[in-house]
Amino acid sequence: MEVMQAINNRRSIRSYRNEPVSEEVIRTIIEAGIKAPSGKNKQPWEFVVVTGDKRLEMIRVMKQGIRDFKAQYKEVGSAEYTAAIMEQAPVIIFIFNPYGTHPWQEKTILQQSTELVDVQSVGAAIQNMILAATDLGLGSLWICDIIFAYRELCEWFKKDYQMVAALALGYTGETPPMRPRKSIDEVTEWI
Ligand SMILES: Cc1cc2nc3c(=O)[nH]c(=O)nc-3n(C[C@H](O)[C@H](O)[C@H](O)COP(=O)(O)O)c2cc1C
Repeated sequence: MEVMQAINNRRSIRSYRNEPVSEEVIRTIIEAGIKAPSGKNKQPWEFVVVTGDKRLEMIRVMKQGIRDFKAQYKEVGSAEYTAAIMEQAPVIIFIFNPYGTHPWQEKTILQQSTELVDVQSVGAAIQNMILAATDLGLGSLWICDIIFAYRELCEWFKKDYQMVAALALGYTGETPPMRPRKSIDEVTEWI
């Protein structure tokens, strides 16, 4: 599949078939991720593949985190819905930045700036992964609602550095149409 075809065909998938994904396929997707460019070639990413019983344990931790967040702040956006999607995806890959700090930690201007670079590098890796997944016939969902259970998930993973995102993967159980986009002219200025 050509890159443009993968870009055009990719969708956020929120329904997955109950079919396992082989380790070989998961490795190919991560391999695509680590080939992404990164600021100063720092490769500020670390992947944790969660499958099987561990995935169910992780979902329990995430749901408890979301409940705690809701009790304290009343609002959790779409996090409960996202957790339900994650519950039926056979593979969830978490992406951490081993150089990054937690949101509540104080940062120098230099740290803030380097984290701004790192988050772009991690985004590039995730984009490579979701395009590779499309190419391999898998559906994917880029997930940031994990932030509503940030502390609980970091504790469960025993990570004392930044959790950036999660990626759900699996054989797709739906074929959604392309979601609306702003037009090029709405978002582009030519000077
Ligand atoms: C950084 C980022 C975070 C996202 N977080 C979530 C999420 O937590 N839950 C979810 O259902 N979708 C999430 N999405 C998917 C977006 O909702 C989706 O990309 C957008 O609606 C456009 O749809 P499309 O991906 O099918 O083109 C996220 C996407 C990105 C890029």
